[in-house]
Amino acid sequence: MSRSILNLFVSSRKGKITYSLLAGAVTMGLAAPSLAVNTDPDEFEAAIKLTPDVENGKKLYKASCITCHGPEGWGVPGSGYPQIAGQLKNVIIKQLADFRAGNRDNPIMRAFSSRRALGGPQDIADVAAYVASLPMTPNNEQGFSLHLAEGKRIYDEMCADCHGENGEGDPEEHVPRIQGQHYSYLTRQFNWIRNGRRRNGDEKMIKQIKNFTPREQVAVLSYVASLKPKNVAPRGWRNHDFDGFDRSWRPMRIR
Ligand code: HEC
Ligand code: HEC
Repeated sequence: MSRSILNLFVSSRKGKITYSLLAGAVTMGLAAPSLAVNTDPDEFEAAIKLTPDVENGKKLYKASCITCHGPEGWGVPGSGYPQIAGQLKNVIIKQLADFRAGNRDNPIMRAFSSRRALGGPQDIADVAAYVASLPMTPNNEQGFSLHLAEGKRIYDEMCADCHGENGEGDPEEHVPRIQGQHYSYLTRQFNWIRNGRRRNGDEKMIKQIKNFTPREQVAVLSYVASLKPKNVAPRGWRNHDFDGFDRSWRPMRIR
């Protein structure tokens, strides 16, 4: 079933997003995201403790994730599609559980992370482990190099405690790895965390960034995008797990 769900797509009209998926999801027998509440607080804890089956994760990735996040898991620079490759396993599990529970305001991810589309805790653990094992893009979208020094100062002072010296994240506290993420995506999430649209934002972080000026925000996020992860793929690397995938593919632009 998941394969046919993927044919339904996001269409962009006058710069606004419309989710054609919603209507399609209902006809597919997949409950509409706004109606399907899969909140299960134990599910997240269970998924974190399970031993993942990476082979099954690869199959799930191909069936349910590849069309949007791409064969390498690198997302699309300058779009709303994040790089998820190399994200910490526990963070991916937490984010999938949060999408499911409606704590992140994204109808497409909510549908694709639903129990019907993805399965139970074991499947979450499997796909998360596969994604976490992928190397990161050497060409992520950069911000503005002009303010990198100011960005570093702000980062070291205000972000490093939680996100790590180099933006590598913290698996125990499921703080996301943010180094090497696409600049537009960082900006979008930062704004959403700040204005509460992303309801799973960290309270301390929200308080801290509340009074950021636009310039400080540009500076710190440009710096974050410029941080180099250790697990970067060599230039020209391709994920041979999906050699058959049409690489001219691009998902529709969303905002
Ligand atoms: C129809 C397109 C689509 C599909 C299919 C899809 N995603 Fe996503 N995914 C997105 C978009 C768009 C976002 C950004 C959501 C936001 O801005 O809140 C996202 C965000 C995420 C995030 C959060 C990343 C972060 O750093 O905040 C994770 C993790 C994720 N997806 C994993 C998956 C997995 C695993 C699958 C397959 C089970 C999947 N996605 C399928 C479009 C998709
Ligand atoms: C008190 C700890 C804390 C501090 C300080 C903090 N963050 Fe966060 N941040 C978090 C947590 C936890 C999350 C994930 C929230 C969730 O579960 O979705 C997060 C999420 C994010 C995200 C979204 C990442 C993604 O992949 O979705 C960005 C971007 C981010 N933080 C940037 C920053 C920057 C820049 C600073 C410094 C100005 C900062 N954070 C300070 C804890 C913190």
